Amino acid sequence: MTHAKTNTKVTVLGLGAMGAALAEALVRAGHPTTVWNRTPGRADTLVELGATAATTARDAVTASEVVIACLLDAASVHEVLDPVADLLAGRTLVNVTTTTPEQSREIADWAAAHGAVHLDGGIMAVPQMIGQPGSSILYSGSRAAFERYRPLLDLWGESAYFGEDAGLASLYDLALLAGMYVMFAGFAHGAAMVAGAGVSATEFAKRAAPWLSAMTGALAGYAAVIDGGDYTVPGQQSLEFSDLGDLVAASAAQGISTEVVGVVQGLIRRQVDAGHGKEGFARIYESIKNPA
Ligand SMILES: NC(=O)c1ccc[n+]([C@@H]2O[C@H](COP(=O)([O-])OP(=O)(O)OC[C@H]3O[C@@H](n4cnc5c(N)ncnc54)[C@H](OP(=O)(O)O)[C@@H]3O)[C@@H](O)[C@H]2O)c1
Repeated sequence: MTHAKTNTKVTVLGLGAMGAALAEALVRAGHPTTVWNRTPGRADTLVELGATAATTARDAVTASEVVIACLLDAASVHEVLDPVADLLAGRTLVNVTTTTPEQSREIADWAAAHGAVHLDGGIMAVPQMIGQPGSSILYSGSRAAFERYRPLLDLWGESAYFGEDAGLASLYDLALLAGMYVMFAGFAHGAAMVAGAGVSATEFAKRAAPWLSAMTGALAGYAAVIDGGDYTVPGQQSLEFSDLGDLVAASAAQGISTEVVGVVQGLIRRQVDAGHGKEGFARIYESIKNPA
């Protein structure tokens, strides 16, 4: 395995909150780093640290063997790179812009058609976490590029590789975000419930954080049941027992929306109505896999 040396020339396209954090980690590690941003003036701090600011995307791409794209979305990646596609041959494009799996694959095919090696990245961190413990970045696409530039990628956080299919990192990224957003929505629902009793969200969070944290211990058990496909395994909390009727009624009595808990109740009910009420709660997975 060939390791990228710290003198690998890197370009970062996009100096929003995340792009600037990624570029800063590269500069601080000693990589010759060229940065470019559509709106001028966002490179000043990085230039003080030692980065070179390019005035055009063309100059920025020309400067380096590795080009990092950290833009808004797939459309902005094309908006920036299409006009400089002729420069991509022989370079490695690491696209850490959030995209859907389909968009990641499309960009990978597009890059390959222009002779570039492509790696897609899904950032599981906020900018302040880059280079800190807890930051992880998911990659898929060229294994050779991942291995070659791993020392560089590791500067941002723990690097994980999921395979040659460029869409896989994005699929994992979005799947993890699904868990995060639904958990946050559940927290917001709980906070709205206790608000009627004069409890602040801040006070509620002090109890919710350790509770939710402790509940993540159940995930491995649910996963084993889902993978085994047998929801009758003894020792599980049943779907009937999990009925959210009281929770929905209490929410309605508080005059708040029941949308969040109503979704979960709907997933449970569908399995109960199909005759699976005595089976484990993990069976809601089947409601999701097989939409009504
Ligand atoms: N921030 C996070 O916590 C976080 C976490 C994980 C993943 N991400 C992902 O990282 C990417 C960047 O996020 P960010 O937080 O840096 O966002 P941001 O602060 O809003 O910055 C967006 C960047 O994209 C550029 N841009 C947008 N549209 C463009 C276009 N049409 N042409 C050229 N440049 C364009 C902006 O340039 P201008 O300055 O010219 O507008 C800016 O540099 C996103 O895909 C985001 O989903 C972010």
